[in-house]
Amino acid sequence: MSQSFQTSVSTATFDRLESEVRGYSRLFPNVFTSAVGSVMRTNDGRELIDFFCGAGSLNYGHNPPEVKRALIDYVSSDGILHSLDMITQAKERFLRTFDEVILQPRAMDYRLQFTGPTGTNAVEAALKLAKKRTQRSHIVAFTNGYHGHSLGSLSVTGNQSYHSEYFGSHNNVSFLPFDGYLGDFDTTILLEKMLSDRSSGLPLPAAVLLETVQGEGGIHVASDPWLQRVQSLCREHDVLLIVDDIQVGNGRTGEFFSFERAGLQPDMVCLSKSIGGGLPLSVLLMRPECDVWQPGQHTGTFRGNNLAFIAAAEVLQNWQNDDFVRGIQQRSDVLREFLSSLLWQSPQPNWDVRGRGMIWGLDVGDGKLARRIIDVAFKNGLLLEASGSQDEVLKFMPALNIPMPLLEEGLQRFGQSLRQAMASGTSPKTASASKKAANPVDCNGEVIS
Ligand SMILES: Cc1ncc(COP(=O)(O)O)c(C=O)c1O
Repeated sequence: MSQSFQTSVSTATFDRLESEVRGYSRLFPNVFTSAVGSVMRTNDGRELIDFFCGAGSLNYGHNPPEVKRALIDYVSSDGILHSLDMITQAKERFLRTFDEVILQPRAMDYRLQFTGPTGTNAVEAALKLAKKRTQRSHIVAFTNGYHGHSLGSLSVTGNQSYHSEYFGSHNNVSFLPFDGYLGDFDTTILLEKMLSDRSSGLPLPAAVLLETVQGEGGIHVASDPWLQRVQSLCREHDVLLIVDDIQVGNGRTGEFFSFERAGLQPDMVCLSKSIGGGLPLSVLLMRPECDVWQPGQHTGTFRGNNLAFIAAAEVLQNWQNDDFVRGIQQRSDVLREFLSSLLWQSPQPNWDVRGRGMIWGLDVGDGKLARRIIDVAFKNGLLLEASGSQDEVLKFMPALNIPMPLLEEGLQRFGQSLRQAMASGTSPKTASASKKAANPVDCNGEVIS
């Protein structure tokens, strides 16, 4: 990026020209110029440690060297950039790599559908395909679930701040309590009763859709027995199981798929975010018997992003490297121990730490406090966001390969920011924050009025 570009950009341009819908630019009101690994740089010379990771799209860090090299080579050789869903070498390489590195070692038999390149596209395709396959229209989703912002995905998203009835209703969707939603009560009992009682009011659904760890919903981790029970109820009632692994797949929980530890075999899996190695790519995995599409029945101009195929084939190689996989667990331990130590050092009655792998949440029980901490952390050189129904859960999602010293430094910055925010009790002013930046912003960077 040229120096002249770096110094000529000001947030005023965005305030004037970009829609009010913008969100993260209000939460992090600096101009970002470059990024390497887990460090982002701004045009005023600041370096921030990234615990946000593009909302889970940068599990392998910013600009991994192998991705940069492969992309430069591909573009320099006039590789195909756009091809709808035609056959390209880049797509063939990705498919082969995904099969050899991910599917075969796990004895998984899935077909891949390339949807439009955002996560919500994969969710839309899954919902549609489940309905087509079963000839049923109903879907069971869960409290605090988050699946994206297109209309079908919104209908299965719990949080009312994203969902107004005038956007389209929750028609054909029933929400049931996720694991932990009712304390220790095993909520699969309710699912079982609703599915088996013909007077429950729940139509036999086409599918049950879930995240194994609810990322945007506030880092709620489903237990393995709960997930296994949901799967066996689905099988018993001939209902499809769809796992939305868009945020917590791609190694975020320590295994490539978040459901591996529980031994699930979902009928469909939605993948996006980090599957493209930092570039837009979305995939719906389906068991072969679910592949009842007719050619072109779920289409789109930008299916299969060749540059993302190139990047993806590179980052998938990490899964052949035992040190990479072991490293996720080591970093997970550091995160968990640090966050737990915060709780026992200064116990707060309504605080909680939840997570697994490299996705952790510190629930501070108060969205305003969480926002204050995020703002101070940003000033102190740390990027992180919040999730949960009131944005009360600080979300820790560093790159899976963040160097250990940087992880520790980021946690130190967090600890310091937490203390400062608790001491101040008022919202600090960020250097170039616009008036709007002072408004609370939710987990998708949207302003809460
Ligand atoms: C679990 C889950 N599903 C779907 C989506 C939607 O993905 P996208 O924003 O790329 O449409 C997200 C985004 O955060 C997500 O976390």
